Order: sequence, then structure tokens, then C-alpha cells
Amino acid sequence: MATPTTTDEIARARRAVRQQAETAAMLGVDYVPCFRTGEGIAEVEPPTDPAAAVSTAADPARAKAQQRMDELRARYERDAPHEKFATPHQFTNLVWGDGDVTARLMFIGEAPGADEDRTGVPFVGRAGQLLNKMITAMGLRREEVYIANVLKTRPPNNATPTPAEAELCAPYLHEQIAIVAPEVIVTVGLPATRLILKSSDSMGRLRGTWAEYVGPGPDGIRVAVMPTYHPAYLLRSYTAENRKKVWSDLKQAMARLG
Ligand code: URA
Repeated sequence: MATPTTTDEIARARRAVRQQAETAAMLGVDYVPCFRTGEGIAEVEPPTDPAAAVSTAADPARAKAQQRMDELRARYERDAPHEKFATPHQFTNLVWGDGDVTARLMFIGEAPGADEDRTGVPFVGRAGQLLNKMITAMGLRREEVYIANVLKTRPPNNATPTPAEAELCAPYLHEQIAIVAPEVIVTVGLPATRLILKSSDSMGRLRGTWAEYVGPGPDGIRVAVMPTYHPAYLLRSYTAENRKKVWSDLKQAMARLG
């Protein structure tokens, strides 16, 4: 890593160290991550910065996956499964997904909130900022992972997705997973975990233990799944014990990814 010399570089380095220290304080992290990509000290950039996005230009496989993802999104928009919900969603923007469409690690959350509905990007509100810190603590940058939700539209009053709503949107999430074909999925929170693992167990029982996602159909993709608490839950129940549990779950995911 180059030693920062100019005022700009020193300011960048200070910011990166401060972000890392905040992350460590949040999660009780007991190490300093080593960034595997890019030069110098990595920073947590705003998630939608197009210049920071992982490039499809030099990678035909990524370009192909992006094309499949765009087609899938267009199909979702035509099908509009949310129009069949018993309680309609008055959303502003569809929140489809964010990140590298060929990522080795995929996070799956529940449904967009107000900030996500306004921007069309998943996990950009308070819970999203904590998720960003979790990703940083894993030694990754947000644009290196893929992030999606069970529902693509904001439920009224941020209600938890009903099983019927989750089922209507599930085919599109299954296809998102098939396109990204990650090595590890981290589900955050109960709706995503239950849908992905076809389980009715509690989060307390499911988190922290490896499980397997099996995609639909005879050739359905198989992916290792690590369920963990939702960052919004962590913000509500901000105890040392919960932070330790989440960090332990993420460490298992990191170990699996090598
Ligand atoms: N919570 C989620 O589950 N998903 C988001 O995109 C934002 C908050």
C-alpha cells in the first residue's frame, strides 16, 4: 500500500481509518481487514457512484450476467407481481438490486424502506449504513457484493412482507440468485431466511448455522447460506451479545469464501 503523501491522500487515509474504527466499535471486530482489490486504502463510497461500480466493460461474463439481470427486471416490471398483493404498495421506485452481478457473496434482505423507495437502491438508510459497515468489516467493498430483497416495492408502514407477498416475488429472487450464482448467501432477517431455506424456524435457531439454498427445478443451483440478524434489528437491539453473534456469522461467511 502506498504511503499517503499529498493532503488529499492523507485526508482519504484518515477517513478510511475513522470508518474502520467506527465499524470495529459497532461490531466488536477484532482485526483490521485487508482489502483485496484496488490500490491503496479502500473507502466506503456512496453505493450508487457509477465510477466506483465494478466494470462490465472488460468482463464478458459480467456483461452477460448484467444483460440477464436487466431482462429479468424488465420481466418483473411487465408481470408486476406486487399488483396482486392483498394490500397494494404505493411505491415511488422499484428497488431491484445493487452491486456486482457476478459476486461471490450475496446479501438478501426483506423489503425497501423509505430511503430505498426514494432512491431505488437497496439498503441505503440507517440499516443500509450498518450493512455497509458490516461489508467493510469483512474486507470487502459494497460494489463487490450483490444485494437484493425479497420484495422489490416498499410495504405500507414498512410492514413485514406477508408469506403470500413473498411467494409472489420469490420466482424473481430465485432467478436473481441463479444469475449471480454466488458461493455464499447471507440472509439478513427472518422473511429472507425463511423464504430461502423454506423453513418456519425462528431466527434465534437459524442464525449462525450453515444451511443450503436449493434453487427451483431439477437443476436448481445450490448455495451455502449463512442466516444472520437484520441490521435494523441490530440497531434496535444494540447489545454487545447481538453484535458478537452477527460478527461471528459474518466471520463464518468470510472463512467459507477464503
Ligand atoms: N431493509 C431491508 O430489508 N432492505 C432494504 O433494502 C432496506 C432495509
